[in-house]
Amino acid sequence: MDGRRFLVTGGAGYVGSHLVLTLVERGAEVVVMDDLRQGHRGAVPPGVELVQDSIADRRRLAEVFAAWKFDAVFHFAALSLVGESMRDPLRYCSENLSNSLAVADAAVKAGCLRFVLSSTAALFGNPKVVPIPEEAELAPTNAYGDSKLMVEKALGWADQVHGLRSACLRYFNAAGADPQGRIGEDHEPETHLVPLAIGAALGTRPPLTVFGTDYPTPDGTCIRDYVHVLDLADAHIRVLDRLEQASVRYNIGNGTGYSVKQVIEAVERISGRPVPHGFGPRRAGDPAMLVASSARLRQETGWAPRFAALDDIVRTAWDWHSRHPKGYDDRG
Ligand code: UFG
Repeated sequence: MDGRRFLVTGGAGYVGSHLVLTLVERGAEVVVMDDLRQGHRGAVPPGVELVQDSIADRRRLAEVFAAWKFDAVFHFAALSLVGESMRDPLRYCSENLSNSLAVADAAVKAGCLRFVLSSTAALFGNPKVVPIPEEAELAPTNAYGDSKLMVEKALGWADQVHGLRSACLRYFNAAGADPQGRIGEDHEPETHLVPLAIGAALGTRPPLTVFGTDYPTPDGTCIRDYVHVLDLADAHIRVLDRLEQASVRYNIGNGTGYSVKQVIEAVERISGRPVPHGFGPRRAGDPAMLVASSARLRQETGWAPRFAALDDIVRTAWDWHSRHPKGYDDRG
């Protein structure tokens, strides 16, 4: 990656910061654009330029693209919570669409024609076939998923008309942290299962509520495909070569599903502590089961997860949270 320069929007966030760290380790130059509404300054490695502005500011975006010549853009900055999207769908649709298109438009105008989008498994809704193949029908059951589908469609037109090559990466459930403990997951509010279960075990968060026990799954709780953030980061870098030929759409997941109850058990195994928890109703918009087939990604890019086992993923998350119980706050 030596000599290559990339823009990472949302690079101070959870998944974005793990990509930034990986890019820097492989010798690339990185500029992060993040308004720090959800991101953390402490998640950006030393030596990486941080432009602390919103991607909604089109003038600022144009300045950033004029100041540096980028080989590609990795676009992470977005609203990304399924539950919240079902309380405020209009905000999700408008913000995610308009901000993503502002970044794509600035890239096209600056002649930067390689674009990697953080997309989502939420595009698939309640899938007919599991593991979900990359060519499966797109039918989101929540506004968050639909907002990303709109962005994917617009990027298709941008390719056809402007030659903007895009990789839309449908992440399944990002989890885990840098095994060296430099960065990790720190959302506020936190809504994700793994950090909430770990917080309950540590006593830094209240007991966990399991959302729904009457799903059509073996133990009645939702099944998800948990994929390590560094495996996600590796996939982002691998797809760049594919973009030299055409735009691509890939799933990123391990291909194995775990129920909410199994995740709780994994946290108990790794931490050696109980996870205090109770049971509540279903959360709106949650599909029963999301498990990826990443067959196309594996075949076309040679990608394979380094952290395929749930316990390995949970262990890296546990190490980060137990050493940083207040997240980035305890680092000043
Ligand atoms: N869950 C609970 N209790 C909690 C939190 C979560 O039971 O307190 C359950 C959820 O109902 C779900 C599972 O744990 O069944 C995982 O929930 P998360 O909130 O951790 O993740 P989601 O599956 O809702 O969503 C995540 C990302 C999305 C992405 C999706 C793709 O946040 O951006 O994975 O699978 F679209």
